[in-house]
Amino acid sequence: MFNFHKDHRKLVITALLVFVFLSTIIAIVPSYQMQDVEPLPQQEELSEEAIKGLQVYISEGCVACHTQQVRNIEMDNVWGSRPSMPSDYYYSKQRMNTWQQSPSLLGSERTGPDLTNIGNRQPGASWHLLHFYNPRIVVKESIMPAYSYLFEHKNEDEVQDDETIVDIPSEFLKEKGKVVVPTEKVKNLIAYMQSLKQTELPSAKDFIPAKKQDSQSSSSSSNSDEDKGLDGKLLYSQVCSACHQENGEGLKGAFPPLKGSAIVTKDNPELLIKIILQGYDARSDYGQMPGFATQLSDAEIAAIASHERNAWGNSAARVSEEEVKKIREMVMEEAKNKEL
Ligand code: HEC
Ligand code: HEC
Repeated sequence: MFNFHKDHRKLVITALLVFVFLSTIIAIVPSYQMQDVEPLPQQEELSEEAIKGLQVYISEGCVACHTQQVRNIEMDNVWGSRPSMPSDYYYSKQRMNTWQQSPSLLGSERTGPDLTNIGNRQPGASWHLLHFYNPRIVVKESIMPAYSYLFEHKNEDEVQDDETIVDIPSEFLKEKGKVVVPTEKVKNLIAYMQSLKQTELPSAKDFIPAKKQDSQSSSSSSNSDEDKGLDGKLLYSQVCSACHQENGEGLKGAFPPLKGSAIVTKDNPELLIKIILQGYDARSDYGQMPGFATQLSDAEIAAIASHERNAWGNSAARVSEEEVKKIREMVMEEAKNKEL
């Protein structure tokens, strides 16, 4: 059957089929799935300068030494406040021009530091100007190449009024007796560096923890649909909706939908309650969820869970405060056993 050495047609067709199959599962399907990824609420668009800077980043081959991905492992914690998720690369839907989307430059080689959050870590343009002219000016032992060809060397009397002179220490000056002026290219590259910031996750801003709520509860308890006068819908909207959205549909690439979620509507609410208490980080196509064990009381969790199980077309039994209490004790027991 596999007599490839005798039948060249078999060889070519098999190779073609393997090629098409691998291309489909490695390239076409993933990019298709990413088409409707949505941006985080606070995410900023790239400015025009930053998009031009991104092109310089590509043409200079910076991706050979720098990554832009914070992996979900401990050694990557220094590069950002959280692991990267698909929504972080939403900007790649912004087009560079008619023919090209801006690519996600994840990179695979970390000869230099990860640049996911360089805009927060190193916001100063003057530092970047010195560093690009020659990294050794600011980082003595740096092995990054010098990009002094992205600067112009001029006689002092040729400098225009709207140009700024970069103060290069004389021992690093490429052309003695001249002054150094940045080109548009390097200015755009710096705008791109400054745009690389990890977008913060939404937080439960207007949520008032239980103790404080007691003293001003009269207003919120009026339209209660839950024991103890707790309003599950209101609590959901204060604590969970920033991420999972008011309509329960989440944001593709960042937060999963709770509408129609099997975990939310499962007969046994144990996993749902555990997720609310401890947070959740199970899949790579979404971000990480923080736990709410310290912020929410058993009654509040019961109210929220009951609301989620019966909103947006979901339909499942309500959850009682006692059930939550039991699961909380179980979770604490497990945590204690882990420490021993
Ligand atoms: C040969 C590998 C190499 C290439 C190519 C390279 N870099 Fe670097 N880069 C490094 C190393 C190593 C460092 C760490 C030392 C330093 O700060 O200079 C670094 C540091 C940096 C930093 C500072 C990071 C921090 O956390 O302080 C920035 C910004 C940077 N590079 C941007 C660029 C850009 C933009 C390009 C393309 C124009 C580029 N690099 C090309 C190796 C490289
Ligand atoms: C800071 C954003 C954020 C907030 C606030 C938040 N979540 Fe989540 N939630 C997530 C993310 C991200 C995931 C996906 C984690 C994964 O699968 O790796 C998730 C997953 C879930 C899941 C699992 C859904 C499924 O089908 O996989 C449930 C249930 C859930 N959250 C409930 C809640 C409830 C209830 C609240 C409010 C008490 C809440 N979340 C608040 C970010 C958030």
